[in-house]
This record gives sequence, C-alpha cells and structure tokens, in this order.
Amino acid sequence: MTEKLSPSPVDKSRTTLSYAAMDLHSRFMTVADLRRAARHRVPRFAWAYLDSATGTEATARRNRAALDRVLFTPSILHGEVTPDFSTALFGETHPLPFGVAPVGQSGLLWHGAERLLAREATRAGLPYAMSNLANATPEEVGPETGGKGWFQLYPPRDIAVRQDMLQRMRDSGFHVLVLTVDVPVASRREKQVKGGLVQPPRLTPRIALQCALRPAWSLARLGHGMPRMKTLDRYTTDTSTRDMTAHVGYLLRTAPDWSYVRWIRENWEGTLVVKGVLKPEDAARLEAEGVDGIWVSNHGGRQFDGARGAIDHLPGVRAATRLPVIFDSGIESGLDILRAVALGADFVMLGRAWHYAVCALGDAGPAHLVDMLRKDMTANIGQLGVARPIDLRGLAEFANPASEGK
Ligand SMILES: Cc1cc2nc3c(=O)[nH]c(=O)nc-3n(C[C@H](O)[C@H](O)[C@H](O)COP(=O)(O)O)c2cc1C
Repeated sequence: MTEKLSPSPVDKSRTTLSYAAMDLHSRFMTVADLRRAARHRVPRFAWAYLDSATGTEATARRNRAALDRVLFTPSILHGEVTPDFSTALFGETHPLPFGVAPVGQSGLLWHGAERLLAREATRAGLPYAMSNLANATPEEVGPETGGKGWFQLYPPRDIAVRQDMLQRMRDSGFHVLVLTVDVPVASRREKQVKGGLVQPPRLTPRIALQCALRPAWSLARLGHGMPRMKTLDRYTTDTSTRDMTAHVGYLLRTAPDWSYVRWIRENWEGTLVVKGVLKPEDAARLEAEGVDGIWVSNHGGRQFDGARGAIDHLPGVRAATRLPVIFDSGIESGLDILRAVALGADFVMLGRAWHYAVCALGDAGPAHLVDMLRKDMTANIGQLGVARPIDLRGLAEFANPASEGK
C-alpha cells in the first residue's frame, strides 16, 4: 500500500487521519497492527499507562499463552453455514458477542475517547462500559449510549458518594452497574510509574517533551487542558493541588467485602454485574447474593502478576453458576472471542484493543475494530461448521502444554 495518509478536510482539529481512499484492512488487519500504530501516536507516559501490566507482566503473557492453548478440531463437509453472531444479554440483543470493557482515563489516552467509544459502540449495537475513573462525566457519556450504557464502579467508600453515583447513573441512562472487586489494593504497575504519569497529570518538562514528540495526540488535546477524572470532581475540592492518587485512593479504593455487595444489591434496582471473579465458589456465592452477571477477569494482568491466564478460570466459573458470564483479559481477535464463548462465556469484553484502535485511527478506529473482529470471527467459525458461537460449547479443549510445538 503506497497511499499516503493525509489530514481529513472535514476534520478541523486535524488529528484524525483520513483513510477514506484506502482499505483499512490492508494496513490494519490485526489488533497488533493497531497497537503498533497507536504506540507512535501516544506520548510515552500515556502509552505506559495503557499498555502496561504489573510486575514482570507475566500474567499478561499468560493470558495470551492460555488463549493460544484453547484449540478446536476443524470440521469438514458441513456445507455452507451462514454465521449468526447475534447474542442476547440482560434484555438486549447485540449483533456481536463483544463490547467495551471499562478503562479509567480513556481521555488521557486520546482526547474524547469516552464519548467516541460510547457513541461508536452504541452505533454498532454493542455495550460500552464507562469507568468511574473516566475523564468524562456520566452526564456527558450516558446520552451517547441511548440509555443502554453500562457504568463501572470502583467502590466508593462513603455512603453519600455511593448513593450520589448511583443516582447519577440512573439519571444519565446507564442500565447495567458493574462493580469491580479485584483492586483491593493498588498495584505497582512499574512500567507506568517509570513512564512519569502522576495524578492529576501535570505538564512537567518531561511530559511536555513527550507530548511534543506526539503532535497528533497533542493537537487533539489542544484547548482542553490536561485530563482529570471528571466524575469525581464533585467529591473533591481543590483538585489542582491535592495529591489525586491519594485522594482517589481514599474515595474509591475501598477493599469491599460481601456486605458491600449486599448494600449495592439493595440500592441498585437495575442489572448488577461483579467484575474480577476467578473462583467458582465466589461466582456461586454472588449468584446467591442476587447479582445478575459474573465477569471473569484478571484485569488484563494489571493487578497481580502471580495469576493464571484468565481463560483458565472460565470453565470452572461457568460450571458454578447459571448466571450470564462475561469474560475479558487478553482478547485480541475474533478467534479469541470464539474461544471464550466455547469455554463458557456468554459475552466477551476488550479493554486495550479499543484504545489501540482509537489512538491509531481516531474516529475511524472503533468501527474498524468491530469490522476486523467480525471478519476474524467469520473466517474462524467457518472452519468449525457451526453457525452460532454458542454452538461451539464443548468443542474446545485446552492443549496439553507438554505437547505444544511437537
Ligand atoms: C488503561 C486501562 C485502564 C483500566 N481501567 C479500568 C477501570 O477503570 N475499571 C475496571 O474495572 N477495569 C479497568 N481496566 C481493566 C479492563 O476493564 C479489562 O479488565 C482489561 O483491560 C481486559 O484486558 P485487555 O485489555 O487485555 O482486553 C483497565 C484496563 C486498562 C488497560
């Protein structure tokens, strides 16, 4: 492909490249292609935040390795099968079985990413989960989801803050509440710390230099100042001088317990999902507590470096509950989505991949990622002789690591 990328005539901020004349699929065929392009457009401190895991990042690598061990036997002579990816979840039917996992400070990764992802996911009929650490407010993002948004809570400590956040979610049209429970303490995320990100982000000489080296990112931010966690504004006073990391820690870094889940259940009448579940017995107990969905995740390896690949936990959790099971951590392709559904997920979420897409391609990124994943699902399910991902249940197995490569 020799075509040159040029700034779009309709894009006044000149930060979104126009790919109208080119076939995006010939340049960006995989999530790895998007990641590579994104890396060259995002300043180092923001990139380190997006791309890092914790420790030596072995859990993140295990997420990938474990997915690669989930294997199928291709089917032959099954004739033509038209794929059907539509999937019902929490009263909605989605055309595809995946959506956007909550990512705090999306707007730091690319200005306006929260609203863009909410709008584009909704346009594609897919759920967008907004984090309460976003750089936008629920009041700004909720309307983009047409009343179908999901909102994720890091558990607020004070009851008054909790109640206010729940009310804001109702008022802004979020119908699914996701309670994240796998951050009982802050992780060290060494690469992120070394990248120089502080809270609130400040334009130190070092950060200014990193921004100068990434003009597209800086132009997109121009006139908007440095991003802050806007949902929390009303619970803080002077956010410019406070140590925001410590303050967010106070506000949200509660180590919740079972009574906390009970409180949320009693105070949220909508759909409640608990995110960060790995043990089957926890899934069973959450079902007994009245939650509506279980989200299997190891946070993409960002919290604990001594965990198994997230997909290794999926069959056990699936067997322990009748509730819908959502899965994330390490998903990079349509084939990965099929693997997760085959092992028990009803729905699959991706975190980093959406942000690679936005950082690489701006406004065109989310729709391209959707198309890429759909094409990859189509190409792979076509080898397996079934129409619906759910029909893959029971057809996948974990390869014995000892037999790998032989
Ligand atoms: C930069 C970044 C920020 C994140 N912030 C949140 C958050 O605010 N709340 C949350 O529940 N999970 C958060 N996550 C975890 C994601 O929701 C998801 O579990 C994880 O990214 C899945 O792995 P993947 O990125 O390999 O798809 C974050 C992940 C990333 C990469």
